[in-house]
Amino acid sequence: MNQNPNRYTITAALPYTNGPVHIGHLAGVYVPADIYARYQRLQNKDVAFICGSDEHGVPITIKAKKEGITPQEVVNKYHGIIKKSFEDFGISFDNYSRTSAEIHHKTASEFFKKLYEDGKFTEEVTEQLYDEEANQFLADRYITGTCPKCGYEEAYGDQCEKCGSSLNATDLINPKSAISGNVPILKETKHWFLPLNEYEDFLKQWILVDHKKDWKTNVYGQCKSWIDDGLRPRAVTRDLDWGIPVPVKGAEGKVLYVWFDAPIGYISSTKEWAAREGKNWEDYWKDEKTKMLHFIGKDNIVFHCIIFPAMLKAEGSYILPENVPANEFLNLEGNKISTSKNWAVWLHEYLEDFPNQQDVLRYTLTANAPETKDNDFTWADFQARNNNELVAIFGNFINRVLVLTDKYYEGVVPEPSTFSEVDEHTLKELKAYPAVIASSLERYRFREAQGELMNVARLGNKYLADEEPWKTIKTDEERTKTVMYVALQIASALAVLSEPFLPFTSDKLKNMLNFQGLKIQPTWKSVAVLSHPSGEMPLGRGGHKIGKAELLFSKIEDEQIQQQLDKLEKTKMDNTADNKQVPSTEEASEEIASAAIASQKETIQYEDFVKLDMRVGTIIEAEKMPKADKLLVLKVDTGIDIRTIVSGIAQSFTAEEIIGKKVTVLVNLAPRKLRGVESQGMILMTEDINGKLVFMNPDASDVDNGATIN
Ligand code: 2FM
Ligand code: ZN
Repeated sequence: MNQNPNRYTITAALPYTNGPVHIGHLAGVYVPADIYARYQRLQNKDVAFICGSDEHGVPITIKAKKEGITPQEVVNKYHGIIKKSFEDFGISFDNYSRTSAEIHHKTASEFFKKLYEDGKFTEEVTEQLYDEEANQFLADRYITGTCPKCGYEEAYGDQCEKCGSSLNATDLINPKSAISGNVPILKETKHWFLPLNEYEDFLKQWILVDHKKDWKTNVYGQCKSWIDDGLRPRAVTRDLDWGIPVPVKGAEGKVLYVWFDAPIGYISSTKEWAAREGKNWEDYWKDEKTKMLHFIGKDNIVFHCIIFPAMLKAEGSYILPENVPANEFLNLEGNKISTSKNWAVWLHEYLEDFPNQQDVLRYTLTANAPETKDNDFTWADFQARNNNELVAIFGNFINRVLVLTDKYYEGVVPEPSTFSEVDEHTLKELKAYPAVIASSLERYRFREAQGELMNVARLGNKYLADEEPWKTIKTDEERTKTVMYVALQIASALAVLSEPFLPFTSDKLKNMLNFQGLKIQPTWKSVAVLSHPSGEMPLGRGGHKIGKAELLFSKIEDEQIQQQLDKLEKTKMDNTADNKQVPSTEEASEEIASAAIASQKETIQYEDFVKLDMRVGTIIEAEKMPKADKLLVLKVDTGIDIRTIVSGIAQSFTAEEIIGKKVTVLVNLAPRKLRGVESQGMILMTEDINGKLVFMNPDASDVDNGATIN
C-alpha cells in the first residue's frame, strides 16, 4: 500500500446529465470528495480532483424522448446547471469535463481499440432483447423486469438498484420494454465482451487479500459477494444510437456501453486539465507512487471495484485505486430521494431559498453523512444544526472574540504576559486537533472529523466562559490581554481547520482576521506545532491588526423550515394526483399500528431478562446456504469476536444487501447446528406490515460493535 504519497488522483462519480443535482448527490459523493481534496491540498499534496458530466447512456435518451428534444440538447442543458451547482457549493474540482468532449471520445475509442487489438475481448453473437414496435434492441434502462437475485420488480437491464446486483438484460424475469411497455422478443446481434471471469484471481487477490483491512465494510462486502458468486463475461458494446461509436470494423451502428466509457471519463478529464496546466497526465494515472481514490455512491460499487479495475488491468499500463470510499444513500424526510417523483432538495432551488448559506447545507450533510448506512435528511435537523451548532457554538465564539478585540484593543492582537496553567493546557489541546481531524479524514470518517472541528470551537467557548475577559478587563488588564491573545489563536486555528468542511466560512473568517496582513500564513501544520514563547503562533505574537466582526451564521426561523415542508407536502399531493405516491413514514406507522398485534407473553422477572446478552454487531459476510431456500450463513462482528450465525432471512434479503448492516445479536444463545453449520447466536428481527422481515438495528451508526443492549 502507498503509505505516504505526495500525489493524489481523486475522482468523484460523473453525474448523469439527465437532471439537476440534489442533496443526495452532495452528501454521498461530492462533499466528502471535496473535503478530502481540500484537506490533501492543505497538506501540500499534489492533487488532481477530477469530475465531469456523464452524457451517454440510456438515462439521457429516455429524458430526451420525454422532453421531445435531442439527447445533445438534454446534456447541454443539464451540464450547465450541474456544473454551476458544483461551483456554487464550493466543490473544488480541478477539472470538470464532459463525456461528449472530443478528447473523451478519442480517449475512450483508443482504450477500446487497445484492448481489442491485444485480444482482450471475446466477440459473440447472442440473442438480445428487442422491441419490435420501437424497432430497437433494449439495453440497460430501456428494459425493466424482476431482479433474479432479490425479486425487485423494477430492476434495469444492467443493474438492480435495490440489491445493487449487476445484471445482463436477459437475466431479468418478465422483461418489459421501457419504450413501448411490450414484452420483447429475442434477436441475434454481435457484441464484444470483457471476460471478467479471467480477472477473478486478480480481483480476489487485489480486493479480498490486499484491501481486506482498509476498504469500508460495505464496499468490501459487496465485492466479496460478487466475486464469490462467480464473475461472467460482460458486454461492453450496445445496439444504441447515442454514445461513442465502437471503433472497429463490423460494429457499425453500435456504441460503447456507457459504463465502459464513463470511467474512462476520469482519464480524459485529467488529460484536459493537464494540458491546460502544463502537467503530465500520466503522472496521475500511471505512476505507482500516485494514490488514486474514487468517491462514489453505493450503486456504483461494482463498476468501480470490479469492471473498471478489470479494464485497467487488461490495458496494462494503469495504476489501480487505493480505495473506493463509497457511501450509502441519503433519504429525505423518511422517503427515498426520487428524481421522477421530485422528492428531492435541488441544489439550485436551495440557494434561492437560502442564499449564501452553502456551508450550512455542507455542514448538515456531513454531520448526517450516510457513511455506514442510509441516513435521513430532515429540515428540522437542518435548522437545529444551524441554530444550535453553527450559530450557537462556532459563530458565537468567533463573534465574541472579534467584538472584544475591537472593543478593548481597537482590533489589534494584544501581546500576552505570563501564561497560566489553563492557557498552557488550552493551547496544548488546540495543537492536538490537526492530527485528530487528519486521522479521521485519512480513514474517510468525515462526520467524525467535522465533529472534532466543532470541538475546537467548543474549546474556545469554554475557555472564554471560564476566563471571563469581560470581567477581568475591569481588574487585570494584563491577564485580559493574555486571554484574548489565546482566544484569537483559537479563532485563527478555526479559520484554517474549517477550510475543507466550510470553505466559505473559512474564507470569511480569514478575511475578518486579516490573514492577508500576516507575514507568515497560518497553515494546518503551523497550528499543529504552535508554541509560545519559543515558537510561532498562527496569528503572530501580538500587534497584528484584524478586521471587524461580521456574522458568520444567522438563525434559521421556523417559518423558513415550514416553507420547505409545505413544498414537500405539495410534491406529495401532486404525486398522489398523478398516482406516483411517496409513502410517508407517518402513513407507514399508522398501517403498522393497525396490523394484527400478537398478545403479550407470560411475565418474566428482571433476573430472567438480564440473562440475555444482547450486543450491537455488524454483518461482515453473508452467503446463501446451499440447497436451503430460507437460510443465509452470516459472519457477524459482535465486538467480542467474529462468529457464524445461520439466519432464516433469505426470503426477505439477498446476501449482498445486508453486508455492512448493524444488527442486534443475542450472543449467549446456546449454539445449534443448522444443516451441518453451527449457528452461534441469533439476529433480532421483526416483521413489517407486508410480512417482510426487518432488522432490529440500532439507529446510531456511531454505536460500536459489542455495545450491550439493556
Ligand atoms: O450513477 C451515475 O450517476 C453514473 N453516471 C456514475 C458514473 S461514474 C463514472 F464511472 F463515470
Ligand atoms: Zn435485486
